[in-house]
Amino acid sequence: MKPVRILFVCLGNICRSPLAEGVMLDLVHRAGHGQAVSVDSAGIGAWHVGAPPDQRSISVAKAHGIDIAALRGRQVGVADFAAFDLILGMDMSNVRDLGALAPSTMAGKVHLFMRYATGQAGDVPDPYYEAADVFETLYQTLEAGCLSLLARLEERAS
Ligand code: 4NP
Repeated sequence: MKPVRILFVCLGNICRSPLAEGVMLDLVHRAGHGQAVSVDSAGIGAWHVGAPPDQRSISVAKAHGIDIAALRGRQVGVADFAAFDLILGMDMSNVRDLGALAPSTMAGKVHLFMRYATGQAGDVPDPYYEAADVFETLYQTLEAGCLSLLARLEERAS
C-alpha cells in the first residue's frame, strides 16, 4: 500500500479521535499494513493535553479487544499539517477549525472523516455529554468509517 500518515482530530482528543486511532490501528495491523499506514490523533482544544482517553472510550475499546489506555491527549498544531497526509475531523466544526489553522498550501489535507471514508455520511457527533451507552454506537460508527477508509486507501495506487 502507498504510505499514508493519518491524523484523526476531534474537539477534546479524549473521546472520538483516540478511539478512532485505536480502531484504525487495529484494522491496519490486522490487514498487514502496519508498515505503510501511521495513525495519530489530536484535539482542537487544549483542555485534555496529557490526559488519558475518557474512561467510556477506554471501556468500549477494551470490550472490542483494543487497548487505548496508554494514549495521551495533545492539541493539534501547525506542524501537523506537514507531518500528516490526511487530517480527518470528526465533525464540521472540527473541519472549520482545522481549515482556519492550516497553512493555505496544506488545506487540501483536511477532510470530514466520514465523508472522506464513505463518500456520504456526515458528522461523528460529540459524545462527551452523552450517556455511556452512546459509546457503543460511537464505536460502531468509527469501526464502519475506518473499514471504509482502509478500503479507500487500499484502492490507491501504490
Ligand atoms: P471529543 O469529546 O472531542 O470526542 O474528545 C470531547 C471531550 C471533551 C470536551 C468536549 C468534547 N470538553 O469540552 O472538554
